[in-house]
Amino acid sequence: MKKIAVLGFGVVGAGVCRLLTENKKALDNAELAYICDLRDFPGSEYGDMHIKDFNIILNDPDVAVVVEVTGARKAAYELSMKALGAGKSVVTSNKEVVAEYGAELLAAARKNGVSYLFEASVGGTIPLIRTLRTSLATDKVKAIYGILNGTTNYILTTMGEYGSEYGKALADAQRLGYAEPDPTSDVEGIDTCRKVSILSAFIGGGIIPPSEIPTTGISRIPTCALSLAKKLGGKIKLIGSAEKTGRGVHAEAGPRFVAYDNILHSVDGVFNGIVIKCEYSSLITLCGRGAGSIPTAAAVMSDVAEALTGRVETLKWRRVNNAPGSKKSRSTFIVTKGEPDVIKECKIIKKITDDGYGAYLVYNAPCMENAPEDILFMCGVL
Ligand code: HSE
Repeated sequence: MKKIAVLGFGVVGAGVCRLLTENKKALDNAELAYICDLRDFPGSEYGDMHIKDFNIILNDPDVAVVVEVTGARKAAYELSMKALGAGKSVVTSNKEVVAEYGAELLAAARKNGVSYLFEASVGGTIPLIRTLRTSLATDKVKAIYGILNGTTNYILTTMGEYGSEYGKALADAQRLGYAEPDPTSDVEGIDTCRKVSILSAFIGGGIIPPSEIPTTGISRIPTCALSLAKKLGGKIKLIGSAEKTGRGVHAEAGPRFVAYDNILHSVDGVFNGIVIKCEYSSLITLCGRGAGSIPTAAAVMSDVAEALTGRVETLKWRRVNNAPGSKKSRSTFIVTKGEPDVIKECKIIKKITDDGYGAYLVYNAPCMENAPEDILFMCGVL
């Protein structure tokens, strides 16, 4: 009987344990055997499956798959390396680890004849990574862009549609289990940046490390800016993008104005939406729940099922730099002065920049025309 071990019993870990227990048949009768976490869980329905010593998992030859959902970084990398070295496949939802150490972990998996799979690391429940590494493996992906963070999309939607204040919208996202343990990584765009980093590896074979990707968050966007965007027939969304240019792959993460006729305009709440631009298949759009315990656990479970088949993942990643000039971001976001009643009088100035990085939308109040420091906000158009 093949066994499955889960590292980490947080929001995603608990969802994974539930789905693995409820779906044994779909998993070829493999059994959840261990839940490793340093914390105590008195009264847990999983009883003596709870362990604190990772070596028990390493030394059990029946453990075929280790699910790493710790939310940790270095420790998660080290535990994953040990599991792969012991001939166990590793499945993760941990985008930080995949973005930082994916190249090494994939190489270790290959060397040991096992898999390292990370479907849940980008796009929550959406079968995005599987689409990229299987269905589109014979196509040429030219660009991938979209809404990659459920927490910020939920926040921006509730602020824009219902006029909620930022703090309240964030608290709701945390209560619903969407946000990371430290929401800074969500609201400052770091989570989106890591996901873009992972996606960049599917455009040309090299992964652009997160440190190379210009990133802007949403924490300084006032509610009035979102109502203004709505008045102008669009929405502001946190967009991650990676696209082939003549100088390599350009990746960035930040807020962009999304007009009403863009397919991502209607992707609201916790939903993520991703557009893949390919040479042969043209445009493909995938949409689904980008966060939450059970939807994310469903993506993890799909990887567990694949790992149990024994098929070995063959992705090879090397680190590459962001395309030259990528320090310039279309997501530049400036918030200065401006009161809601002044904004009513605003107008748009559409400006094409001469640096090849596209259009910026600048919202100005007429009274501010000669006072550039009073620009309310500015961001790129998707
Ligand atoms: N905090 C992340 C989000 C979880 O809100 O999208 C899923 O990666």
